Amino acid sequence: MRPTLLFATLAALAPALTAQAPAIHTLLPVPASVAMNGARFPLDAGLTVAITGFRDGRLERAVGRALTRLEGRITVPLTRTYSADRAARLVINVARAGYPIPDVDEDESYTLDVSGEQAALTAPTVVGAIRGLETLLQLQAADGRGYFLQGTRIKDAPRFKWRGLLEDVGRHFEPVEQIKRTLDGMAMVKLNVFHWHLSEDQGFRVESRRYPRLHEMGSDGLYYTQAQIRDIVSYATDRGIRVVPEFDVPGHSTAWLVGYPELASVPGPFSISRTWGVLPDVMNPIKESTYRFLDGFIAEMALLFPDRYWHIGGDEVNPQQWKASPTIQVYMKAHGIKNEDAMQVAFNRRLFGILKAHGKEPVGWDEILQPDLPKAAVIQSWRGVNYLTEAAKQGRRAILSAPYYLDHIKLASEHYLADPLPANTDLTPAQQALILGGEACMWSEYVTPEIIESRIWPRLGAVAERFWSPREVNDVNDMYRRLEVTSRRLTEFGLTHESQTDAMIRRFAAGDDAALFSGLLEYARPRGFGLGPGANATQFTPLTRLMHAARTDPWNGWRMNDRARRAAGGDTAAVRGLREDFARMAQFRAGLEGVRDRIPMANDGMPVAGALLDLSRIGMQALEYVTRNATPAPVWRTTADSTLKAIEGKTFGQLRPIGAEAVRALVNAVPK
Ligand code: ACM
Repeated sequence: MRPTLLFATLAALAPALTAQAPAIHTLLPVPASVAMNGARFPLDAGLTVAITGFRDGRLERAVGRALTRLEGRITVPLTRTYSADRAARLVINVARAGYPIPDVDEDESYTLDVSGEQAALTAPTVVGAIRGLETLLQLQAADGRGYFLQGTRIKDAPRFKWRGLLEDVGRHFEPVEQIKRTLDGMAMVKLNVFHWHLSEDQGFRVESRRYPRLHEMGSDGLYYTQAQIRDIVSYATDRGIRVVPEFDVPGHSTAWLVGYPELASVPGPFSISRTWGVLPDVMNPIKESTYRFLDGFIAEMALLFPDRYWHIGGDEVNPQQWKASPTIQVYMKAHGIKNEDAMQVAFNRRLFGILKAHGKEPVGWDEILQPDLPKAAVIQSWRGVNYLTEAAKQGRRAILSAPYYLDHIKLASEHYLADPLPANTDLTPAQQALILGGEACMWSEYVTPEIIESRIWPRLGAVAERFWSPREVNDVNDMYRRLEVTSRRLTEFGLTHESQTDAMIRRFAAGDDAALFSGLLEYARPRGFGLGPGANATQFTPLTRLMHAARTDPWNGWRMNDRARRAAGGDTAAVRGLREDFARMAQFRAGLEGVRDRIPMANDGMPVAGALLDLSRIGMQALEYVTRNATPAPVWRTTADSTLKAIEGKTFGQLRPIGAEAVRALVNAVPK
């Protein structure tokens, strides 16, 4: 099933869902409190709109954007005249502007009341209204009578105040339009921090007028002009999203050193790195000129990035050059600095002083969490949740990223179930208050502009819900049900995560051949991080293999799990669905064999097609035993088990099969 229109999706989902109580919504993230009331608020050209309280340009633009999106769905023009009439059909009431620049302490709450006659959105701040408008758009549905909003009473506010996405534009550059689409998608799922990783060993991506050799020599010409940065920051501000720049120092800094080798700990010369990993190049922490440079640089950049936080990086500092440098070692001895970790703390102290002078608070990766680190820094945990709790126990503010690395190509469900503050946390309430939230990370070793959106979306929606919704909202099946609808809604912004697979396949296959690959990628997903053993990828490696066309978390994964559960309970529709799954999974191997003499990409799919064939055989047999309530000979179970074990959690070429979990559930349900 691949409906092209949102209403078709909703209509298709509705019958299966009406059994659940109360009325079904497709909101993501789920609001703090929501009560569907069954009302139907018709959407048509007669929609009158009022802004009855505070209003400013930002609010009017947000209302205008929401109406434009609604128009696109209901296919009639809507008014752009906003009265102050409390009897209007859509009434928006905002108390005050809120922070002029999006702030970590912004009040993002809102209430939304939708009856058959009126939709009323009330918020203390403009950002609250922006969040509420997204909810309102998610209430849009359709039936035979036309378009409408589902009736509801919602009282909403986020669980965490820091809800972010990191995008690494250092390793692979991303154009302005890609960043803007990302910001649109983020706003839709109520994320509020765009963490922009702007410098790396492989690229320095911002125009600096003060130190022009940074972008001139460190970027291959792929950088944002200052006008583009201002444009993006203002685009984000309009959507209630903070932009936190990261200029990673003292490591991950090779691209700086190409134009300014005097910043380095060794003489150089340097060139932009084309490979990945922890490089040896590290800034020189004992030269005053390093700090003068950073001061001048931060002074310039502080004018471009108004957020009060500034990410210093601080991760993966290779100590080798500091260890090997006689001058640095002499300096360390003279200043009682006992090792390279302590040297980095001394560097950070100087850096924090500079940031403070420019009105900025530091954020850094968890390696900076060392004895004597000043309390000012927010710790971003990436190596493990333990660094988050350790930071909080030390009385420091912290954000969690470790379970939310999108480049590791985990399932949405895996990200979803990782909670920054699980119910069994051993942190005290005061320590819990120091956990500001979290960020998903889109590192870009293995993403290009063509595929980045399919790596971010729709899985980021699951993370967004984890950061916004109450902890108790954790039903994986229900999340996937709503994520599917959300994924289609996200395409409204031109995001390519849904269209990319077929677009890439079209380049090497057509007609029935394309359908074969497309079908395969409904049952296979990319291997984890990277291209696999021996790939030796560089910045120039084309990311155009079958694994790059693949969806990160194909819907058949959760659907088959759901069907297996229901089939074990005797649901005949689920049994029928699984039979169709297994029939499809069984055919890819022969199909690819039939085209491989014409289409070399078939070889990318052969190994996983073999695994799918094996899975389908066991699955079909298990299904028959379950439905006939028959007990197989013990040898069947032993064989099924060993075949399954050879597939579960395994990678075949550069792909992983979908369905092993469902087949395991069926095997477990077979009568003994
Ligand atoms: C990191 O992933 N090195 C922060």
